[in-house]
Amino acid sequence: MTPHIPKTVRKSPYLPFGDHKNAPFYGMDILSVRQFKRDDLEYIFGVAHEMAGMVRRVGTFDLLKGKILANLFYEPSTRTSASFTSAMERLGGSVIPINEVRYSSVSKGESLPDTVRTLEAYADVIVLRHPEVGSAALAAKYASKPIINAGDGVGEHPTQALLDLFTITEEMNRVDGLTITMVGDLKYGRTVHSLARLLTLFNVRLNYVSPDILPMPEDVLAEVQASGTPQASYSTLEEVLPESDVIYVTRVQKERFADEAEYEKVRSSYVISPETLKIAKEDMIVMHPLPRVGEISMDLDTDPRAAYFRQVEYGLYVRMALLAMVLGKA
Ligand code: ASP
Ligand code: CP
Repeated sequence: MTPHIPKTVRKSPYLPFGDHKNAPFYGMDILSVRQFKRDDLEYIFGVAHEMAGMVRRVGTFDLLKGKILANLFYEPSTRTSASFTSAMERLGGSVIPINEVRYSSVSKGESLPDTVRTLEAYADVIVLRHPEVGSAALAAKYASKPIINAGDGVGEHPTQALLDLFTITEEMNRVDGLTITMVGDLKYGRTVHSLARLLTLFNVRLNYVSPDILPMPEDVLAEVQASGTPQASYSTLEEVLPESDVIYVTRVQKERFADEAEYEKVRSSYVISPETLKIAKEDMIVMHPLPRVGEISMDLDTDPRAAYFRQVEYGLYVRMALLAMVLGKA
């Protein structure tokens, strides 16, 4: 992990009672997957395992009792917003939900730096989703409490990539040696930008399948290349499906298109159905960050290889782990 002075320690003379300031990640922002090394991932996933066990045994417990999370969402969300809320509440903490910024003072023109500096007076950690690349880093520059990037435009979605990787480790029992194929909107899909970067910490092969106008961005390709991870781009899934251990399907990101006619041309480029998977391995998995809007047909849901709703549940445990860690309790 990149050296980082825990922000709460730096800016506030008052260390909240009971916080372990030497805990890894204490007071840290989570802005990009570039922050993590393999050891960090093992640590996070170890804590996530413990969280899963606790949820199964007791449901809710008091690890973060007295802590408050501000959930600040400038873009729509179901999973990220609800899972951070659930994570905080299962850990005994509470949440200030600002899921509709149009009802907040943002609609009066309040800036992001002012909004986060206000919310941190009330909360111990801020989860932020915003349409602009770099918004989480900007918020972190002004806030003294930890900022967790819940998606910054077409930039990154680091906690999604962590839960995606946790899903792969839980479902496949390993990451090294796997062939992972990303399908769909690789240009605007922030989850694949984060996941491809994170996977460079492992010995994997990456395949990209996308419409011509929605390729993986050059900066991500360059980072993957620099890591020595083998990667290749294709236009049809059939070419690479038989060798894939994971296919990671994404939605064409309608909200990023300036021209709706362009979106209409590519929206149905790939549809995964039981028929599609006839040439796939028996023990592969199909993932999707969700929401899906037609890329995976519902009749695939009963196939044991359909991992996307299990992936949702893994997300809860990973986000519980992250909250406990940045708040110095794990
Ligand atoms: N929910 C994910 C995101 O916010 C993926 C998507 O919306 O397609 O990036
Ligand atoms: N996967 C994901 O980020 O879902 P939401 O957009 O519903 O939060």
